[in-house]
Amino acid sequence: MTHKNVAEILKSDSVLQEVELKGWVRTFRSNRFIALNDGSTLNNIQCVIDFENTDETTLKRITTGAAIAIKGTIVESQGKGQSVEVQVSKIEILGDCNPEEYPIQPKKHSFEFLRENAHLRVRTNTFSAVMRVRSKLSFAVHKYFQENDFNYVNTPIITGSDAEGAGEMFRVTNFEDNKAPLTEDGKIDYSKDFFGKETNLTVSGQLEAETFAMALGKAYTFGPTFRAENSNTTRHLAEFWMIEPEVAFMDLDGNMDLAEDFIKSVINDILKNCKDDLAFLDERLTQEDKSKPQAERSEMSLLEKLRFVADNNFKRVSYTEAIDILRNSKPNKKKKFQYLINEWGADLQSEHERYLVEKHFKCPVILFDYPANIKAFYMRLNDDGKTVRAMDVLFPGIGEIVGGAQREERYDVLVEKMKAMNIDEKELWWYLDLRKYGTAVHSGFGLGFERLVQFTTGMSNIRDVIPFPRTPQNAEF
Ligand code: 4AD
Ligand code: MG
Repeated sequence: MTHKNVAEILKSDSVLQEVELKGWVRTFRSNRFIALNDGSTLNNIQCVIDFENTDETTLKRITTGAAIAIKGTIVESQGKGQSVEVQVSKIEILGDCNPEEYPIQPKKHSFEFLRENAHLRVRTNTFSAVMRVRSKLSFAVHKYFQENDFNYVNTPIITGSDAEGAGEMFRVTNFEDNKAPLTEDGKIDYSKDFFGKETNLTVSGQLEAETFAMALGKAYTFGPTFRAENSNTTRHLAEFWMIEPEVAFMDLDGNMDLAEDFIKSVINDILKNCKDDLAFLDERLTQEDKSKPQAERSEMSLLEKLRFVADNNFKRVSYTEAIDILRNSKPNKKKKFQYLINEWGADLQSEHERYLVEKHFKCPVILFDYPANIKAFYMRLNDDGKTVRAMDVLFPGIGEIVGGAQREERYDVLVEKMKAMNIDEKELWWYLDLRKYGTAVHSGFGLGFERLVQFTTGMSNIRDVIPFPRTPQNAEF
């Protein structure tokens, strides 16, 4: 007798094999058919009970959600929808599940309800599929970089610097008794704090990753990052995972090539390795779309979208060209945009990004060469003196999925920019050292992992692609 998981059993062609398996009951009908799921696959295995030879109390305990162990034989299925099933010879209830109380019933639950039951939602088809795809995607990310000779670097979670200079950091203070001592001039005396200085949770591992790129050549991070921005949207989390490659001797064109190749590679990977889950999510999205007004439905199914991105070139467009397109666009002329585009220099909002991607180009777009003053201090200044070598990758349905840049490698220019943007040079002395000792052209980007999972699973809310979302007013679990 061999212990097997459901995925293995469903794949096995050898019938009349004795097996042992464990899992959770999804449904039990006619006192005879158990749909058993063990998480190894989206699919359940049908386990058929000989109820006449099973005692009444055991039968009553086979309820949705109960954990059970089964011994039996794999046989060809008589029923529709599956090729094999298990003829049960012995059943043991491992953990009961009171059907009166169990929140996850065999019916459709709203995503809002499931978010409140995030500890149980991964037992549903949709969330188990999303989380398996998420897991496979993380592996694909590491595979891509490892196979391309990048070094995985673990950058600090607690840091003293604001990598983005955007002031959206969660504070890490640890004063005794929660009482902050004051200096003579009445300010908080951080020299008495745990680290002897003001610290926060990292918003990005980029600056530290740059130190690795400038020694190991190619580095990447893949870790949690934190933003205290009060954005209650379907694309923002207060805690999210970011992937940040950083490469020495690579310019912005190389950076665009890398981002495009990387995204295509991981999408191809899951198209190959998550067939069942993606087929299910594709169908789910198609059904969800049917309940929407025609204008909001997507033109492509999930699988079509994934293949489209994997097979087509991303359109590369400068910020200046994009502004021209937006200024002359219908929604701008008809004042349909919430933020109208009047002049060069305007920051792009997600409505503009989505217009470019979804209406104008109808493919992923890489925007580059943004105005210096709407981008971070570390981006390389162009010869025009007003734009920087920044790039954002914009995706249909998502908007910005990647933000990156060629870094300012010239010491003097960087110091100038830091002064102009009020970035503390003393705090970033080590970052400036990179420009003093063997500086070189280098570039990198950050990809928001949850936005990638959103795109690949077709889930519309970012809270539904991370196990336990952290958002304003919510840190349950
Ligand atoms: O554009 P961002 O802020 O860029 C950086 O942090 C750079 N230091 C990256 C680099 O060059 N190494 O963030 C990068 C990406 C965004 O494009 C988006 O996908 C994601 O991180 N992101 C978020 N995802 C979820 N919730 C949030 N609040 C996010 N903020 C950014
Ligand atoms: Mg950005």
